Amino acid sequence: IQPIFVREGLNGTEPINSLPGISRFGLDSLDKEIELISSLGINAVAVFPVIDPAKKDEGGTDSLNENNIVSQAIRQIKSNSDIAVIADVALDPYTSHGHDGILDEDGYVDNDKSLPVLVEQAIVLAKAGADMIAPSDMMDGRVRFIRKALEDNAFYNTLILSYAAKYSSKFYGPFRDAVGSSANLGVGSKDTYQMSVSNIEEALHEVGLDIQEGADMVMVKPGMPYLDVVKAVKDEFKVPTFVYQVSGEYAMLKAAIQNEWLSEDVMLEALLCFKRAGADCVLTYAAKEIATKINS
Ligand code: PBG
Repeated sequence: IQPIFVREGLNGTEPINSLPGISRFGLDSLDKEIELISSLGINAVAVFPVIDPAKKDEGGTDSLNENNIVSQAIRQIKSNSDIAVIADVALDPYTSHGHDGILDEDGYVDNDKSLPVLVEQAIVLAKAGADMIAPSDMMDGRVRFIRKALEDNAFYNTLILSYAAKYSSKFYGPFRDAVGSSANLGVGSKDTYQMSVSNIEEALHEVGLDIQEGADMVMVKPGMPYLDVVKAVKDEFKVPTFVYQVSGEYAMLKAAIQNEWLSEDVMLEALLCFKRAGADCVLTYAAKEIATKINS
Protein backbone atom coordinates (compact mmCIF):
# COMPACT_ATOMS: atom_id res chain seq x y z
CA ILE A 1 0.00 0.00 0.00
CA GLN A 2 1.42 3.34 -1.10
CA PRO A 3 0.77 6.36 1.15
CA ILE A 4 0.30 9.55 -0.87
CA PHE A 5 0.24 13.19 0.23
CA VAL A 6 -2.09 15.60 -1.54
CA ARG A 7 -1.61 19.31 -0.99
CA GLU A 8 -4.27 21.94 -1.32
CA GLY A 9 -3.46 24.65 -3.86
CA LEU A 10 -0.34 22.95 -5.18
CA ASN A 11 0.31 22.77 -8.90
CA GLY A 12 2.49 19.83 -9.85
CA THR A 13 4.57 18.15 -7.17
CA GLU A 14 6.99 19.18 -4.45
CA PRO A 15 9.56 16.97 -2.73
CA ILE A 16 9.40 16.29 1.02
CA ASN A 17 12.88 16.88 2.41
CA SER A 18 12.71 14.39 5.26
CA LEU A 19 11.21 11.66 3.03
CA PRO A 20 13.74 11.13 0.21
CA GLY A 21 12.03 10.23 -3.06
CA ILE A 22 8.52 11.11 -1.82
CA SER A 23 6.57 14.16 -2.96
CA ARG A 24 3.38 15.99 -2.22
CA PHE A 25 0.99 16.06 -5.17
CA GLY A 26 -1.41 18.71 -6.39
CA LEU A 27 -4.79 17.55 -7.69
CA ASP A 28 -3.52 18.29 -11.20
CA SER A 29 -0.75 15.70 -10.90
CA LEU A 30 -2.68 13.06 -8.99
CA ASP A 31 -4.23 11.06 -11.85
CA LYS A 32 -0.92 10.30 -13.50
CA GLU A 33 0.61 9.16 -10.20
CA ILE A 34 -2.34 6.89 -9.42
CA GLU A 35 -2.13 5.40 -12.89
CA LEU A 36 1.55 4.66 -12.35
CA ILE A 37 0.98 3.14 -8.89
CA SER A 38 -1.83 1.01 -10.25
CA SER A 39 0.17 -0.14 -13.27
CA LEU A 40 2.82 -1.49 -10.90
CA GLY A 41 0.30 -3.86 -9.35
CA ILE A 42 -0.25 -1.89 -6.15
CA ASN A 43 -3.91 -2.29 -5.20
CA ALA A 44 -4.37 0.42 -2.61
CA VAL A 45 -3.27 3.91 -1.64
CA ALA A 46 -3.56 5.70 1.70
CA VAL A 47 -4.34 9.37 1.06
CA PHE A 48 -3.16 12.07 3.46
CA PRO A 49 -4.11 15.75 3.17
CA VAL A 50 -1.88 18.79 3.48
CA ILE A 51 -4.30 21.63 4.07
CA ASP A 52 -3.88 25.37 3.77
CA PRO A 53 -2.40 26.43 7.17
CA ALA A 54 -4.90 29.32 7.29
CA LYS A 55 -7.71 26.74 7.55
CA LYS A 56 -6.34 25.06 10.67
CA ASP A 57 -8.26 25.77 13.86
CA GLU A 58 -8.81 24.44 17.39
CA GLY A 59 -11.64 22.17 16.30
CA GLY A 60 -10.11 20.89 13.05
CA THR A 61 -13.29 22.00 11.31
CA ASP A 62 -11.99 21.62 7.75
CA SER A 63 -12.01 17.84 8.38
CA LEU A 64 -15.82 18.02 8.15
CA ASN A 65 -15.91 20.02 4.93
CA GLU A 66 -17.23 17.76 2.15
CA ASN A 67 -15.17 19.73 -0.31
CA ASN A 68 -11.89 19.64 1.60
CA ILE A 69 -8.72 18.56 -0.17
CA VAL A 70 -8.89 14.91 0.89
CA SER A 71 -12.52 14.55 -0.23
CA GLN A 72 -11.68 16.11 -3.57
CA ALA A 73 -8.70 13.79 -3.96
CA ILE A 74 -10.73 10.68 -3.07
CA ARG A 75 -13.53 11.58 -5.51
CA GLN A 76 -10.99 12.24 -8.25
CA ILE A 77 -9.13 8.97 -7.66
CA LYS A 78 -12.32 6.90 -7.49
CA SER A 79 -13.74 8.39 -10.67
CA ASN A 80 -10.60 7.65 -12.69
CA SER A 81 -9.30 4.39 -11.23
CA ASP A 82 -10.41 1.25 -9.46
CA ILE A 83 -7.54 1.36 -6.97
CA ALA A 84 -8.71 1.01 -3.34
CA VAL A 85 -8.54 4.18 -1.27
CA ILE A 86 -7.76 4.19 2.44
CA ALA A 87 -8.54 7.42 4.32
CA ASP A 88 -7.29 8.37 7.78
CA VAL A 89 -9.66 9.48 10.51
CA ALA A 90 -7.77 11.88 12.82
CA LEU A 91 -7.78 15.63 13.20
CA ASP A 92 -4.03 16.37 13.23
CA PRO A 93 -3.72 17.65 9.65
CA TYR A 94 -6.57 20.10 10.43
CA THR A 95 -5.94 21.36 13.98
CA SER A 96 -3.97 24.46 14.99
CA HIS A 97 -2.50 22.45 17.92
CA GLY A 98 -1.57 19.42 15.78
CA HIS A 99 -3.40 16.91 17.97
CA ASP A 100 -5.63 14.13 16.66
CA GLY A 101 -8.60 15.15 18.81
CA ILE A 102 -10.28 18.10 20.54
CA LEU A 103 -8.67 19.74 23.59
CA ASP A 104 -10.39 20.53 26.88
CA GLU A 105 -9.87 23.83 28.78
CA ASP A 106 -6.58 22.54 30.20
CA GLY A 107 -5.17 21.55 26.82
CA TYR A 108 -5.73 17.83 27.44
CA VAL A 109 -7.02 15.79 24.48
CA ASP A 110 -10.62 15.06 25.45
CA ASN A 111 -11.55 11.56 24.28
CA ASP A 112 -15.32 11.87 24.47
CA LYS A 113 -15.49 15.36 23.00
CA SER A 114 -13.42 14.13 20.05
CA LEU A 115 -15.59 11.12 19.20
CA PRO A 116 -18.52 12.91 17.50
CA VAL A 117 -16.14 14.92 15.33
CA LEU A 118 -14.19 11.82 14.30
CA VAL A 119 -17.43 10.01 13.48
CA GLU A 120 -18.57 12.90 11.30
CA GLN A 121 -15.16 12.96 9.60
CA ALA A 122 -15.50 9.24 8.86
CA ILE A 123 -18.87 9.82 7.17
CA VAL A 124 -17.44 12.67 5.08
CA LEU A 125 -14.69 10.31 3.89
CA ALA A 126 -17.13 7.47 3.17
CA LYS A 127 -19.34 9.87 1.18
CA ALA A 128 -16.33 10.95 -0.86
CA GLY A 129 -15.86 7.30 -1.81
CA ALA A 130 -13.17 5.93 0.52
CA ASP A 131 -13.17 2.12 0.48
CA MET A 132 -11.55 1.85 3.89
CA ILE A 133 -11.90 4.19 6.82
CA ALA A 134 -8.76 4.11 8.91
CA PRO A 135 -9.08 5.67 12.38
CA SER A 136 -5.53 6.63 13.38
CA ASP A 137 -6.56 8.93 16.22
CA MET A 138 -6.40 6.30 19.02
CA MET A 139 -9.41 7.65 20.95
CA ASP A 140 -11.18 4.94 22.94
CA GLY A 141 -14.50 3.78 21.52
CA ARG A 142 -14.18 5.40 18.11
CA VAL A 143 -14.41 2.18 16.10
CA ARG A 144 -17.78 1.34 17.69
CA PHE A 145 -19.23 4.77 16.93
CA ILE A 146 -17.82 4.87 13.42
CA ARG A 147 -19.20 1.40 12.65
CA LYS A 148 -22.64 2.43 13.88
CA ALA A 149 -22.58 5.66 11.87
CA LEU A 150 -21.51 3.82 8.72
CA GLU A 151 -24.39 1.35 9.16
CA ASP A 152 -26.88 4.15 9.90
CA ASN A 153 -25.80 5.95 6.74
CA ALA A 154 -26.04 2.77 4.62
CA PHE A 155 -22.28 2.44 4.07
CA TYR A 156 -22.57 -1.31 4.64
CA ASN A 157 -19.57 -2.17 2.50
CA THR A 158 -17.15 0.46 3.74
CA LEU A 159 -14.38 -1.29 5.65
CA ILE A 160 -12.77 -0.18 8.89
CA LEU A 161 -9.00 -0.55 9.10
CA SER A 162 -8.20 0.35 12.66
CA TYR A 163 -4.83 1.73 13.67
CA ALA A 164 -5.35 -0.45 16.74
CA ALA A 165 -1.85 -0.76 18.16
CA LYS A 166 -0.40 2.65 17.46
CA TYR A 167 2.51 3.61 19.66
CA SER A 168 3.50 7.09 20.76
CA SER A 169 6.61 6.97 18.63
CA LYS A 170 9.32 9.39 17.58
CA PHE A 171 9.43 7.60 14.22
CA TYR A 172 6.53 9.73 12.90
CA GLY A 173 8.67 12.87 12.54
CA PRO A 174 8.94 13.04 8.73
CA PHE A 175 5.18 12.38 8.32
CA ARG A 176 4.45 15.36 10.54
CA ASP A 177 6.72 17.45 8.30
CA ALA A 178 4.94 16.07 5.24
CA VAL A 179 1.44 17.09 6.41
CA GLY A 180 2.74 20.25 8.07
CA SER A 181 1.63 19.35 11.61
CA SER A 182 5.01 19.27 13.39
CA ALA A 183 5.18 23.03 13.92
CA ASN A 184 1.60 22.99 15.23
CA LEU A 185 2.31 20.18 17.68
CA GLY A 186 5.57 21.83 18.79
CA VAL A 187 6.98 20.15 21.88
CA GLY A 188 3.61 18.52 22.61
CA SER A 189 3.37 14.74 22.63
CA LYS A 190 0.58 12.28 21.91
CA ASP A 191 1.39 10.19 24.99
CA THR A 192 -2.08 10.55 26.49
CA TYR A 193 -3.78 8.68 23.63
CA GLN A 194 -1.11 6.77 21.70
CA MET A 195 0.40 3.73 23.41
CA SER A 196 3.42 3.47 25.66
CA VAL A 197 6.40 2.12 23.74
CA SER A 198 7.28 -0.32 26.52
CA ASN A 199 3.89 -2.06 26.67
CA ILE A 200 2.85 -5.08 24.58
CA GLU A 201 -0.12 -6.27 26.64
CA GLU A 202 -1.98 -3.03 26.04
CA ALA A 203 -1.54 -3.63 22.30
CA LEU A 204 -3.45 -6.89 22.61
CA HIS A 205 -6.20 -5.23 24.66
CA GLU A 206 -6.53 -2.42 22.12
CA VAL A 207 -6.68 -4.82 19.18
CA GLY A 208 -9.22 -7.05 20.97
CA LEU A 209 -11.45 -4.06 21.71
CA ASP A 210 -11.27 -2.71 18.15
CA ILE A 211 -12.23 -6.10 16.70
CA GLN A 212 -15.18 -6.34 19.10
CA GLU A 213 -16.21 -2.80 18.18
CA GLY A 214 -16.36 -3.74 14.50
CA ALA A 215 -12.95 -3.29 12.89
CA ASP A 216 -12.45 -5.45 9.79
CA MET A 217 -8.68 -5.16 9.88
CA VAL A 218 -6.16 -3.98 12.41
CA MET A 219 -2.82 -2.25 12.16
CA VAL A 220 0.39 -2.22 14.13
CA LYS A 221 2.49 0.91 13.87
CA PRO A 222 5.44 1.58 13.67
CA GLY A 223 6.71 -1.61 12.06
CA MET A 224 10.31 -2.65 12.34
CA PRO A 225 10.97 -2.00 16.04
CA TYR A 226 7.55 -3.58 16.80
CA LEU A 227 7.74 -6.95 15.03
CA ASP A 228 7.02 -8.71 18.34
CA VAL A 229 3.70 -6.87 18.43
CA VAL A 230 2.86 -7.84 14.84
CA LYS A 231 3.53 -11.48 15.65
CA ALA A 232 1.60 -11.41 18.92
CA VAL A 233 -1.43 -9.76 17.27
CA LYS A 234 -1.49 -12.17 14.34
CA ASP A 235 -1.03 -15.24 16.59
CA GLU A 236 -3.68 -14.12 19.05
CA PHE A 237 -6.47 -12.83 16.79
CA LYS A 238 -5.96 -14.35 13.29
CA VAL A 239 -7.49 -11.27 11.66
CA PRO A 240 -6.10 -9.35 8.70
CA THR A 241 -3.12 -7.59 10.23
CA PHE A 242 -1.54 -4.57 8.59
CA VAL A 243 1.79 -3.05 9.47
CA TYR A 244 2.95 0.49 8.70
CA GLN A 245 6.61 1.02 7.88
CA VAL A 246 6.34 4.59 9.09
CA SER A 247 8.04 7.70 7.78
CA GLY A 248 11.01 7.61 10.17
CA GLU A 249 11.79 3.98 9.40
CA TYR A 250 11.70 4.65 5.68
CA ALA A 251 13.74 7.85 6.04
CA MET A 252 16.52 6.26 8.07
CA LEU A 253 16.94 3.36 5.65
CA LYS A 254 16.88 5.76 2.69
CA ALA A 255 19.44 8.06 4.30
CA ALA A 256 21.81 5.15 4.88
CA ILE A 257 21.29 3.89 1.31
CA GLN A 258 21.93 7.37 -0.12
CA ASN A 259 25.15 7.61 1.87
CA GLU A 260 26.13 4.15 0.63
CA TRP A 261 26.35 2.93 4.21
CA LEU A 262 23.82 0.24 3.40
CA SER A 263 22.93 -1.58 0.22
CA GLU A 264 19.56 -0.65 -1.31
CA ASP A 265 18.49 -4.25 -0.72
CA VAL A 266 17.85 -3.45 2.96
CA MET A 267 14.47 -1.99 2.01
CA LEU A 268 13.11 -5.23 0.59
CA GLU A 269 14.70 -7.12 3.50
CA ALA A 270 12.86 -4.94 6.02
CA LEU A 271 9.56 -5.45 4.18
CA LEU A 272 10.00 -9.22 3.95
CA CYS A 273 10.53 -9.31 7.71
CA PHE A 274 7.06 -7.81 8.20
CA LYS A 275 5.58 -10.70 6.24
CA ARG A 276 7.64 -13.20 8.21
CA ALA A 277 6.32 -11.72 11.47
CA GLY A 278 2.76 -12.32 10.23
CA ALA A 279 1.67 -9.14 8.46
CA ASP A 280 -0.87 -9.57 5.66
CA CYS A 281 -0.44 -6.07 4.22
CA VAL A 282 2.28 -3.47 4.45
CA LEU A 283 2.02 0.29 4.12
CA THR A 284 5.33 1.67 2.95
CA TYR A 285 6.60 4.81 1.23
CA ALA A 286 8.81 2.40 -0.76
CA ALA A 287 5.80 0.60 -2.31
CA LYS A 288 6.33 1.97 -5.82
CA GLU A 289 10.05 1.40 -5.81
CA ILE A 290 9.77 -2.14 -4.42
CA ALA A 291 6.95 -3.06 -6.81
CA THR A 292 9.14 -1.87 -9.69
CA LYS A 293 11.98 -4.02 -8.41
CA ILE A 294 9.84 -7.12 -7.88
CA ASN A 295 8.28 -6.76 -11.34
CA SER A 296 11.61 -6.42 -13.15
C1 PBG B 1 -2.19 10.84 11.91
C2 PBG B 1 -1.17 9.89 11.42
C3 PBG B 1 0.21 9.85 11.73
C4 PBG B 1 0.76 8.86 10.92
C5 PBG B 1 -0.29 8.29 10.18
N1 PBG B 1 -1.47 8.92 10.52
C6 PBG B 1 1.04 10.73 12.59
C7 PBG B 1 0.82 10.85 14.01
O1 PBG B 1 0.06 10.08 14.63
O2 PBG B 1 1.42 11.77 14.58
C8 PBG B 1 2.22 8.51 10.87
C9 PBG B 1 2.69 7.87 9.62
C10 PBG B 1 4.15 7.92 9.39
O3 PBG B 1 4.97 8.34 10.23
O4 PBG B 1 4.55 7.52 8.29
N2 PBG B 1 -2.71 10.63 13.16
